[in-house]
Amino acid sequence: MAAEKPSFETFQLFSTTSAFGIFDDPSSQQPPSIPPPPTLEVHASQVPSSINHNVESVNIDDGLTLLKGRVNTQQVFGLSNSDLVPGKYEGGLKLWEGSLDLIRALLSDIKSDFISFGGKRVLEVGCGHGLPGIFALLEGASAVHFQDFNAEVLRCLTIPNLNANLPGKSHPSSSSSSNSTICDKAEVRFFAGDWSDVDKLLPHVGYDFILMAETVYSINSLQNLYNLIKKCLKHPDGVVYMAAKKYYFGVGGGSRRFLSLVEKDGMMSSSLVAEITDGSSNVREVWKLCVK
Ligand SMILES: C[S@@+](CC[C@H](N)C(=O)[O-])C[C@H]1O[C@@H](n2cnc3c(N)ncnc32)[C@H](O)[C@@H]1O
Repeated sequence: MAAEKPSFETFQLFSTTSAFGIFDDPSSQQPPSIPPPPTLEVHASQVPSSINHNVESVNIDDGLTLLKGRVNTQQVFGLSNSDLVPGKYEGGLKLWEGSLDLIRALLSDIKSDFISFGGKRVLEVGCGHGLPGIFALLEGASAVHFQDFNAEVLRCLTIPNLNANLPGKSHPSSSSSSNSTICDKAEVRFFAGDWSDVDKLLPHVGYDFILMAETVYSINSLQNLYNLIKKCLKHPDGVVYMAAKKYYFGVGGGSRRFLSLVEKDGMMSSSLVAEITDGSSNVREVWKLCVK
C-alpha cells in the first residue's frame, strides 16, 4: 500500500502542556491505581483479523526505509484519541520520535564499526511499533524479544510490523511446545506486561543489547525499568541504547532523571551518543549504558 503522509507523530503529550491531566502537577504524582494488565507471552499467530494495519513507509536514513502500520486507540482499546491512559495504555500505538533517533544512532555506530548485531541477542523494551528491534533483526541479530506494556499493541502493531518488514521470512513456530517464532534463523518472541514483573517471563540468558526509546517519561516507573535492565543485560559486556527526551515537561521524567538513578546505583556507566535539537520537540538524546 502506498505511503500516506510522513508517518510519525510529534508528541503533544510531553510538550509543555501535558495531555493527561493527572500528571500536570509533578508533586501530586501517584502510582496509577488501576492494576497493570497481565504479564503474558504473545504468539505471532495472535494477530486479530479485525484490525486494519494500513502500512506506510518511514524514511530513516538514505538507503534505509522501514514499514509501519497505523492503528488507533479507538480500534484497539475503544479509547478515543488517547495518547496514554496511565496504568491501562502506555502510548505504544504511536511512533515516537525517539525510536527513529535510536535507529539512526545504531546505524551510525554500525557504520563506524563500534557495534554489530550479527548473532546477538536483543531485547527491545517498551517497543510499541518495534522498529529498532526490527532493524536489529534486519542487521542479523540471532534473537530479538519485544516487550510492551499492552498485549494488544504487540498483537495489532508490533507483529504486523515485523511481518511487513520481513515478508515471507517471519511465521509462527510450527512447534506447539515452543513459544518462539522463527524469523529466518532468528528467534523472535513477544512479551506483554509491566516492568515490575515482566522479567519473570523473559529468558534469563542475558541480552547483548537492550534497546529502548521514549520509555523514561514517568518518574513512577524509572526504578522498575532500571531493575529490569540490570536483571536482563548480559554481564559484563551487554550494552543498553536509550533514546529519550532530556525532560518530559509535565510528567517529570527524562533521560537525565533516569541517568541520575543509574549513576547513584553505580553499576553502569553512560555516554552520550547523539543529541537531537531539530526544533520539533525539546532536546532529545541517545545514550549508551555499559556495565562498569
Ligand atoms: C511512549 S511509548 C514508546 C513506544 C516506542 N518505543 C516508540 O518510541 O515509538 C512508551 C512505551 O513504554 C512502555 N511502557 C511504559 N510504561 C511501562 C511500564 N510500566 N511497564 C511496561 N512497559 C511500559 C509501553 O509499552 C509503551 O509502548
